[in-house]
Amino acid sequence: MRIGVLTGGGDAPGLNAVIRAVLKRAEEYGFEVVGIRYGWAGLLNMDTVPLKYSDVEDKVGEAGTVIKTSRTNPAKDEATMNRCIENFRKLGLDALIAIGGDDTLTAARKLHEAGLRVVGVPKTIDNDLKGTDYTFGFDTAVNAAMQAIESLKTTGRSHDRVMVVEIMGRHAGWIALYSGLAAGADLILIPEEPFKISDVVEFVKRKKPEKGSLTIVVAEGALIEDYKGPITKDVKVDQYGHVYLGGIGEFLAKEIEKATGFETRAVAPAHIIRGMSPTAFDRVLATRLGYAAVELVRKGVFGKMVALKGTEIVSIDLSEAVAETKLVDKSLIELKNALAS
Ligand code: F6P
Repeated sequence: MRIGVLTGGGDAPGLNAVIRAVLKRAEEYGFEVVGIRYGWAGLLNMDTVPLKYSDVEDKVGEAGTVIKTSRTNPAKDEATMNRCIENFRKLGLDALIAIGGDDTLTAARKLHEAGLRVVGVPKTIDNDLKGTDYTFGFDTAVNAAMQAIESLKTTGRSHDRVMVVEIMGRHAGWIALYSGLAAGADLILIPEEPFKISDVVEFVKRKKPEKGSLTIVVAEGALIEDYKGPITKDVKVDQYGHVYLGGIGEFLAKEIEKATGFETRAVAPAHIIRGMSPTAFDRVLATRLGYAAVELVRKGVFGKMVALKGTEIVSIDLSEAVAETKLVDKSLIELKNALAS
């Protein structure tokens, strides 16, 4: 048995832990593993690297991915999909383990329907994949974001400033909400709940005099009511049609300062929260998922994604996994709003 493994989309702490677990389990069964470099691009370009457990044995705590990643879309048209299937055959692969988020796994589902023997492993710091309770990388990103917010709170307090912290999260505000709640932010703004600038200004005018300083957390994909879509850094889109988000923190900070006269600063930890050494939770989850993915391959079960449900690792159809985005629960939104009142 020869298994290909690839990592697609934005990297997430825990990817190397999955690869390590895949190699460990595969070697136990006597399977060969080949790394497909730069995500789907590696399959399109036949860019591969042989992998051994000893290569990654000590990388359980290392963020990033030893086999690199990219946002290449292998399902953008029929010719590209056919090339993937042809190259899978040319590389002599029996199975492919695709580790990725919504985009990577949507492509995996399409390729599976076209005949590819693929198993998915869910990954994204955004935690917005519906089929699993948590994705690895999320816990690490939340902890890193929490530390950043706490540190900005401290300096904000010294200067009696309003600090606006922009946190990654394209469609869902999981990281902003968890880190903001954990760090005791005064206000948390997420994509699930479009907001009015005038309401934020009113909140700052009311709260700042009593508190001295304020910390506002805003998810990069948060939406301003009556504004055309999210605030972006560039008009360019990637192969999946996503814009390059970023800038809402600065935008909001300027509006607050203009309307209130209070000194306001915007900071975006951005990719810093994606490169931290994974937490124990993420390492263990990633390891369990990697093992489970090889089990599915061994049993010849394809078109599935391994997932965390409660405390169990289960497998679900890829089509179910990517059917919709997992947004922040209503009860958590109510909790954060109650704390901001
Ligand atoms: O992978 C998810 C994510 O970190 C999002 O939170 C963010 O919008 C995006 O990736 C950033 O992508 P890139 O690394 O391509 O700038």
